[in-house]
Amino acid sequence: MATLKLGVLCSGGGTNLQAILDACASGALNARVQLVLCNKPGAGALTRAERAGVPAEVLSHSTYADRRAYDAALVERLRAADVELVVLAGFMRIVTPVLLEAFPDRVVNIHPALLPAFPGLDGPGQALAYGVAIAGCTVHLVDAGTDTGPIIAQAAVPVLDGDDRDALAARILVQEHALLVRALSWFAEGRIELLRGDPGARVRVRVRDAHRAQLAAEA
Ligand code: GRF
Repeated sequence: MATLKLGVLCSGGGTNLQAILDACASGALNARVQLVLCNKPGAGALTRAERAGVPAEVLSHSTYADRRAYDAALVERLRAADVELVVLAGFMRIVTPVLLEAFPDRVVNIHPALLPAFPGLDGPGQALAYGVAIAGCTVHLVDAGTDTGPIIAQAAVPVLDGDDRDALAARILVQEHALLVRALSWFAEGRIELLRGDPGARVRVRVRDAHRAQLAAEA
């Protein structure tokens, strides 16, 4: 298979970006990060891209008239970089159909909760406040909703006695890194199949010869 060309969108520290960069460098992931786009000047993700020699650009959303104009700028850069798959890796912006129509079924997000539970901000904090015994993370295709797209893979972690939000988030983040790289490797290997049921039914994901669930051992 040809090397998969990735565009990675970030807003923060970029540890998920780093997991992708490391997997590409080690050969564990047959992909190359063509471009990193970040909406936050000075974000740690930019430093990680620079260290890896990956082109990166800050696109501050505040300098665009609206979300659609911002997404058009994202699409322009992603296309110029010959990106085939867009990865939202800690990207804290809601994307619009402008991006989704430019990359149909080719925008992937990592969310720190077991969707459909706890969409939106602070999945770990929501899970802890709810009192769940099992938390985790989800890699999914992005659709027009908020964290509502077809689920590609999930990883579960235990909520331990005495966990505070940061402890749980850190345990989930370890699983995010592994799950995201695994899901991207399935795209790189052409193993992702979308099952389109009856009109109005949810699109579901099948991965050839792979387990979509990752159950972390007791911490
Ligand atoms: C991660 O939990 C990610 O799921 C969320 O932001 C956190 C930090 O991500 N969206 P990163 O370290 O910037 O990749």
